[in-house]
Amino acid sequence: MKDQFGRKINYLRISVTDRCNLRCVYCMPEEGIPLVLHSQMLTYEEILDFTRYAVNRGISKVRLTGGEPLVRKGIETLIRSLASIPGIRDLSMTTNGILLPKIAGDLRQAGLHRLNISLDTLDPERYKALTRGGELGKVLEGIRDAKKAGFGGPGSPIKINCVLMPETGQEELEKLRAFARKENLELRLIHCMDLKKGFFTKVEGGEGGDCPHCNRIRLTSTGMLKPCLFNNIGYDIRVLGAEKALDATLQNKPASGSSNTCDSFNYLGG
Ligand code: 5AD
Ligand code: SF4
Repeated sequence: MKDQFGRKINYLRISVTDRCNLRCVYCMPEEGIPLVLHSQMLTYEEILDFTRYAVNRGISKVRLTGGEPLVRKGIETLIRSLASIPGIRDLSMTTNGILLPKIAGDLRQAGLHRLNISLDTLDPERYKALTRGGELGKVLEGIRDAKKAGFGGPGSPIKINCVLMPETGQEELEKLRAFARKENLELRLIHCMDLKKGFFTKVEGGEGGDCPHCNRIRLTSTGMLKPCLFNNIGYDIRVLGAEKALDATLQNKPASGSSNTCDSFNYLGG
């Protein structure tokens, strides 16, 4: 399926919740976050129905994001159902890794192909400050358990999402690079973005932020289908139905990102 500029669209990112068990300084405010009502959130059935339709139209890559996908109850059941849709050749998740130690095996068994784990520093104190309270040890344990569960093997690289902050030093980066090499992880460096100011760049070692070749669309936890992270427009799949929402999204996907003044990262899914 192609958008109005002829870009091939085959990648659907699904934000399954706006909730998160961390409060990364670049993503969420410390408190006073307006949360989506549970009653407004798409049910797993709604997510599956839309995804089946989108796969019929040409989506072949699906990623679960959040907020933090692992805080949504029964996420492994959603994965199991998604994994059984013929036509999805790549099913992945972006997680902060904190809850992975408990659930990595279940995710693998349910049919998840790949994991991206957010990790901006290997310094426990700095991690705690950046995430406003997160425990680095849990993430490291999560990475270990993910590997034990079979992630990280051939065709299933574990990627580390590292958001570069102005204070991220060379020494810090070298530590992350060495860690990634030793643990056989793919490090992706992401410059800190600002939705409202419209500041974004290409992801180093990844595909994000490359407007002329952008192949993505996004489904938010409340059912807004969005053609671009850096744009306010979105189409409600509950109001329009899957077909009309998808057609509108393809026809109105902007040539490049500008800014998004009405959504937040935890709602949109990075
Ligand atoms: N800039 C860049 N990436 C961000 N993410 C969240 N907020 C930002 C931001 N301001 C992305 C990170 C993180 C994922 C969950 O969302 O890549 O790993
Ligand atoms: Fe949570 Fe990820 Fe946002 Fe951090 S960046 S607060 S882990 S959703």
